[in-house]
Amino acid sequence: MKKTVTALAAGVMLATLSMSAQASDTLIGSCIYKFDDTFMTGVRNNMEKAAADLGAEIELVDSQNRQPAQNDQVDTFITKGVTALIINPVDRSAAGPLVEKAKAENLPIVFVNREPEKSILDGYDKAYYVGARAEESGTIGGQLIVEYFKAHPEADKNGDGVVQYILLKGEQGHQDATLRSEYCVKAMIDGGLKIQAIGEDNANWDKVQGHDKMKNFITSQGIDAIEAVLANNDDMALGAIEALKSEGYNTGKDATKYIPVVGVDATAPALQAIANGQMLGTSLNDAKNQGTAAVRIADVASKGEAVTSESIGYKLTDGKYVWIPYVKVNAENYKDFM
Ligand code: GAL
Repeated sequence: MKKTVTALAAGVMLATLSMSAQASDTLIGSCIYKFDDTFMTGVRNNMEKAAADLGAEIELVDSQNRQPAQNDQVDTFITKGVTALIINPVDRSAAGPLVEKAKAENLPIVFVNREPEKSILDGYDKAYYVGARAEESGTIGGQLIVEYFKAHPEADKNGDGVVQYILLKGEQGHQDATLRSEYCVKAMIDGGLKIQAIGEDNANWDKVQGHDKMKNFITSQGIDAIEAVLANNDDMALGAIEALKSEGYNTGKDATKYIPVVGVDATAPALQAIANGQMLGTSLNDAKNQGTAAVRIADVASKGEAVTSESIGYKLTDGKYVWIPYVKVNAENYKDFM
């Protein structure tokens, strides 16, 4: 089928779309901001699986963290005759031109993970967004710290009644970094903790950067001054744990040398770190349901059918949004996600 679609001139795509009634007529072109991202790799794998389950074809390309490259990839997909696009933008503020490209071809476009401005999505009736509300994961991270300090008053190592914490943030400008940071702080305050940030930096979702930034904070503040670490994702949390381990902390072997660390995503290595007693908790960023929902929308829209909660099997809000909930993960329930 792919060859047939490829051979079609863009001008006759519409006719083809209305004629095509079978799932196998779907050819989804998908750009991922970069393949080298742990959580998005999970989404990507689940998109492939969801497409296979539907008998739809999907082509995934690596935008290598470059928006101009992604724009070219979208042009190539359009020339090729894809029936829908799934885009994980490099720069979510650059989604406008991509929506325009899709609109010019009457092509459905589903954004994932990096949310374009509402006005951009509202400008095209076949533009959608699948994601998770970052406020929820931020709140869960803060609540995990609150619960820990209520159960372990001795974790206030200097006994000053204030939790001195480090915050490792994702990429600047990413809604998940901004909102998770804001809401984890809010949840700690709402939970009755007195808090003080003693270090805060962007580590761009990256384990190595998380490690290096944490090392810097350990050097500048001293390990004894650090009472909690909140990271906007698991890779940065795991990087921070590596830095703590090199100080003899969070090895999972000595309960007196432990600093609570929380992340977001519930990746396999993070679940393992929770199992080993090296990490306090995280939230499930549901790659399976995010990937599946995006592919279902693309498939239904490719066939020219109405995208509704019923047709995609996920609750559709305002005709364009699918929100997948986060789930709190800690030592009590991590096994459910392994
Ligand atoms: C976040 C996720 C991060 C990273 C980022 C990429 O939702 O928590 O680990 O994958 O998306 O945009």
